Amino acid sequence: MSETTTLRPGGEALLAGRPVARIGYGTMQLGELPVHAGAEPDEAVALLRHAVELGVNHFDTAQFYGSGFANEMLRRALAPFHDDIVLVSKVGAKTSPEGTGLVPAQKPHELREEVDANLAGLGVDRLGAVNLRRTGGGVGLQSVGDQVVDLDDQLAEMIALRDEGKIGGIGLSNVTLEQLQQALPAGIVTVQNSYSMLDRSDEPLLELAEREGITWAPFFPLGSAFPGFPKVTEAPEVQDAAKALGVTPAQIGLAWLLQHSPQMLLIPGTRNLAHLTENVDTGRIALDAATVAKLDALAGDQR
Ligand SMILES: NC(=O)c1ccc[n+]([C@@H]2O[C@H](COP(=O)([O-])OP(=O)(O)OC[C@H]3O[C@@H](n4cnc5c(N)ncnc54)[C@H](OP(=O)(O)O)[C@@H]3O)[C@@H](O)[C@H]2O)c1
Repeated sequence: MSETTTLRPGGEALLAGRPVARIGYGTMQLGELPVHAGAEPDEAVALLRHAVELGVNHFDTAQFYGSGFANEMLRRALAPFHDDIVLVSKVGAKTSPEGTGLVPAQKPHELREEVDANLAGLGVDRLGAVNLRRTGGGVGLQSVGDQVVDLDDQLAEMIALRDEGKIGGIGLSNVTLEQLQQALPAGIVTVQNSYSMLDRSDEPLLELAEREGITWAPFFPLGSAFPGFPKVTEAPEVQDAAKALGVTPAQIGLAWLLQHSPQMLLIPGTRNLAHLTENVDTGRIALDAATVAKLDALAGDQR
């Protein structure tokens, strides 16, 4: 496998007790559904190895990304995983029986089955942390009928998985402020909600995470590849700031996030090697107070 480096992009933070680079990588873009819309295996392997060469050691993934494709690529590129690589996955959904989409998998036994599927897919016996991805409310998949499951019942299963050593820490994804408060006694180590410079409606959750020493690893940090979500790189003020500083708009979006909170971990997704390099390089950019103030104003009164 590729050599790791001690230079950590964006500096280091602790995730479930393990040091991770604050700039990580999210694998969803490697294996969008349907699976054939994702990256070619050779490209995916090269990209993941390059991420490690650049100092990335935190990978956010899911067994349902590309019906197992993303995890297979991680395994092919990086196994046997170096001790310092932290694999974070998520449960709460699974590939649909037809293999063309996702369905909720919120029941406690389904959470366990998905943890086991991740362990098998990645070829490891323990995951650094696992996010319980709720499907009621928020973004994306919704739950109906018996897929509306009590949070405490889910947390009990996650705690059992942690006690058994299958997962190193419990995270939450797509949750409300009340759900985060309710879950705190379980020992939450990370939260993964949709959040970016342009989408700051979950600022109160981030503030709670900061007070509790919980890492905040938002999904859609650049506004995602999906239509209908505000794209950070398209905001004129972001483009102006990029021009003024001689960097790219994506770097402005990511640098703002890093500076916004010490608990912030970045997991931008890309299947483009140049974009990966650019994203990792964001760690060297310091935004001045006037630029931050202008960018802060973009979210309006959401926060
Ligand atoms: N918990 C959840 O429910 C959930 C949901 C969604 C995602 N996630 C996780 O969060 C990660 C990040 O979310 P995401 O990938 O959906 O959205 P994102 O990181 O906000 O955006 C990805 C999009 O940005 C583009 N991009 C990335 N770097 C760029 C750069 N330097 N310049 C220009 N464009 C750039 C990518 O295109 P290119 O490929 O062309 O670079 C892609 O279209 C995912 O990979 C996944 O691990 C979690």
